[in-house]
Amino acid sequence: MNEGGANTMWGGRFAGGVDAIMEAINASIGFDRRLAAQDIAGSRAHASMLAATGIITQADAQAIDDGLSRVAAEIEAGDFPFRTEFEDIHMNIEARLRELIGEPAGRLHTARSRNDQVAVDFRLFVRDQCDAAILGIEALMRAFLAQAEAGADWVMPGFTHLQTAQPVTWGHHMLAYVEMLARDRSRFADARARMNECPLGAAALAGTSFPIDRDATARALGFDRPTGNSLDSVSDRDFALDFLSGASICAMHLSRFAEELVIWSSAQFRFVTLSDAFSTGSSIMPQKKNPDAAELLRAKLGRVMGAQVALLVVMKGLPLTYSKDMQEDKEQLFDAADTLMLGLAAMEGMVRDMNANRAALASAAASGFSTATDLADWLVRALNLPFRDAHHVTGSLVRMAEEAGCDLPDLTLAQMQSVHPGITAEVFEVLGVENSVRSRMSYGGTAPERVRAELARWQEVLG
Ligand code: ARG
Repeated sequence: MNEGGANTMWGGRFAGGVDAIMEAINASIGFDRRLAAQDIAGSRAHASMLAATGIITQADAQAIDDGLSRVAAEIEAGDFPFRTEFEDIHMNIEARLRELIGEPAGRLHTARSRNDQVAVDFRLFVRDQCDAAILGIEALMRAFLAQAEAGADWVMPGFTHLQTAQPVTWGHHMLAYVEMLARDRSRFADARARMNECPLGAAALAGTSFPIDRDATARALGFDRPTGNSLDSVSDRDFALDFLSGASICAMHLSRFAEELVIWSSAQFRFVTLSDAFSTGSSIMPQKKNPDAAELLRAKLGRVMGAQVALLVVMKGLPLTYSKDMQEDKEQLFDAADTLMLGLAAMEGMVRDMNANRAALASAAASGFSTATDLADWLVRALNLPFRDAHHVTGSLVRMAEEAGCDLPDLTLAQMQSVHPGITAEVFEVLGVENSVRSRMSYGGTAPERVRAELARWQEVLG
């Protein structure tokens, strides 16, 4: 096609063909073929609008529509001839349409440019990705809810600085991820609502002199309305960035849980056992069961954040309106969307399958002086000590226990009274982890009663 000849799509003013290297750098068909379905949908809406407004004849519109059905069938069947010399999906489909139906194919591009064409195709694609992400998130939320239900009142250590802080409940920890995922879900819903305007009809950048009906194409493609400014329509990629920022934050949440799984499944913690389905063994150390899926997710999810930065960098230097740089938006977003969906699915599987080790959680919950705050609070309530003094007395008791090599509940009353004579045997009640978590009844707190109420609320929300 390029031996001395010019591209048939835009070759009018070109005498020579392009260099093979130019073809390689210019072509996007290797990846934007993924937009084929969206491209066909956009062309159908456009052709039918052109006929309805009398810009082309009904007969031509019908021929175009039939031809596009044949193109769609070829793509579906895997025998569509994708050709690098036609650069991208838009020109590949149009070229094939011309081979199939002849002259009417040439009328499809009336009042349209590849600039608004790619903008609408890509928006349709990203909109679908928002919907898919929302479904994936909801499935993962349900998996966390099932875990929270099974162990609403199981005690475990809560951490700050990865140091034992205070006892919490397993259900509470699981519901923390439900909160994060609910925010992720609402970010994708917001992004979807914001991007749901149709850029088709902006043409190259300035609009068109043909009497097109942008409301009709917007409606046909499921958009709320047409975009308001043709310059912005062809140069905007905020919708992709909105998706990527929601995806990056969601990826960060998934990665944090992946990290917790790696820690929790270690022999030192033994908080959870991951199923064989999401682990591997070692070829040399027979005792090993590695949390590979969690590790891979922790690493892979960084690609989502990388894609967000990459697209921001592509866009930040571009004057209005379209520049070819923008062709680099797609591979990044495709990879990020695939990585996120894989991450959500793998995490859902891991969360569903993991077994929490109730006994290990409980024994860890009771160690590390986890009820020291409960002791200090008791000194405030029972002996009316100012909290700062109570903190000091408790600190001395922790040191005493540490030196004796025991936990707080193992100290005798006499030992305690040697630090503060007002302490009575009642204190031992608050030193138990079960009592500790039960007492955290403040709104949003870890008490099992609170956790069950939140659990019921979320089950209701997810239906
Ligand atoms: N393949 C191009 C892209 O992905 C389509 C738009 C081309 N527009 C142009 N003026 N060259 O951005």
